[in-house]
Amino acid sequence: VKVAVRIFFVLGASGDLAKKKTFPALFNLFRQGFLHPDEVHIFGYARTKISDDELRNRIRGYLINDKNASPEHVEKLSKFLELIKYVSGSYDSEEGFRLLDKEISEHELSKNSVEGTSRRLFYLALPPSVYPSVCKMIRNFCMNRSDLGGWTRIVVEKPFGKDLESAEQLSTQIGELFEEPQIYRIDHYLGKELVQNLLVLRFANRFFLPLWNRDNIDNVQIVFREDFGTDGRGGYFDEYGIIRDIIQNHLLQVFCLVAMEKPVSLKPEHIRDEKVKVLQSVLPIKDEEVVLGQYEGYRDDPTVPDQSNTPTFATLVLRIHNERWEGVPFVLKAGKALNSRKAEIRVQFKDVPGDIYKCKKQGRNEFVIRLQPSEAMYMKLTVKQPGLEMSTAQSELDLSYVQRYQGVTIPEAYERLILDTIRGDQQHFVRRDELKAAWEIFTPLLHRIDDGEMKPLPYQPGSRGPAEADELLAKAGYVQTHGYKKKTKTTLNPHQA
Ligand code: BG6
Repeated sequence: VKVAVRIFFVLGASGDLAKKKTFPALFNLFRQGFLHPDEVHIFGYARTKISDDELRNRIRGYLINDKNASPEHVEKLSKFLELIKYVSGSYDSEEGFRLLDKEISEHELSKNSVEGTSRRLFYLALPPSVYPSVCKMIRNFCMNRSDLGGWTRIVVEKPFGKDLESAEQLSTQIGELFEEPQIYRIDHYLGKELVQNLLVLRFANRFFLPLWNRDNIDNVQIVFREDFGTDGRGGYFDEYGIIRDIIQNHLLQVFCLVAMEKPVSLKPEHIRDEKVKVLQSVLPIKDEEVVLGQYEGYRDDPTVPDQSNTPTFATLVLRIHNERWEGVPFVLKAGKALNSRKAEIRVQFKDVPGDIYKCKKQGRNEFVIRLQPSEAMYMKLTVKQPGLEMSTAQSELDLSYVQRYQGVTIPEAYERLILDTIRGDQQHFVRRDELKAAWEIFTPLLHRIDDGEMKPLPYQPGSRGPAEADELLAKAGYVQTHGYKKKTKTTLNPHQA
């Protein structure tokens, strides 16, 4: 039998990302039958000198816990771990990568594959500072030398640079070694279920098509909150800050999907063309439309400098100069150590013109897409309060995934995206020109923060962030619906259900 062997490399195999995200995602794909033991080999590569078994033991704990340890799970896990081999070497030594290539070639041949039809996927779970040297080593010593239809791809994680110049430099270095279709710049927000749903919602529903514009929408919020601080990652985080860690990538990707025009088709290039266009239409960010924060206690982390000016919170307004969105503020907000963990999109509509119910001011229509936790989308709308009186109230049309899709497992973002890299679908990955446009938006602001010209305001951990951020939101036009509380279906009285 001739098998097209797929080889998966996790470079930086003993690091945090590999253990917490990459290996668990690979295992889940394996469990579900997407990675077949006859077709797949997984190599970990890192500097530490450890054996295959030591690597397996290090990652085992991340793949099993008290809740999922069924005999079937345990059996699958041991089969999966058998697929993993380890090679140690440095990230800039010819020797290490030649060794890796030798090991791979043996596996390719041992599986009776047609030489050259193997597929080599390199997942760089590494600090970006070593990307250029690692890419060079792969290019020189580890390429799939085939003209028979095999391939070599690389997957890279953010941060892709620190500003426009450094990002472009990195893109050029990698671009000299690999073609764009071989490069998968991963942004795991693009793998989240409700982010993947955005284009379907917008372009497959008559409801939304005529309303999704400046005539009807007053403001849009894209919000990320975490209820923990930089826990042990202070050293990394302080170099980057919340804008580079969350806003420039995760929230901006969501922004693109909310604001872009309809693509010509669902081809990855058509979708990415539209994302680039909307990014290029974003106006320079105004200082008065930015609020930065840093939680109290952030600098107590020994890896954070005492004088750190790094924001752990930011609210800022993006404005798009085009026919659809002129005048509509897009408020992007992200913060660490806040009062809740949540990511959501809020599309708030304008007031009803000529409102005849104005004696009791009602809230506005709002369409909320909750990315996490508990995926849901709901529309806040005004209805008659049930009963004998003719009065109005805010209620909602609610599509909560736990209720509507009972028993359906929602895949992890990384699982989906890794499967895409194997299948060769770049739709949910960031293209080079998209990355450049993203950095163009934020670089002037980031430089002003780095130079200490803009300072974060202190806020209490466990709070909503600086009060000034809520003021900015109100100035941008967001109207809070006082007294409204979304009712979850789980709170229904069983006799009513
Ligand atoms: C990462 C950031 O990209 O995303 C982290 O570096 C953040 O700081 C994480 O915690 C959030 O991801 P998720 O999927 O938990 O929302």
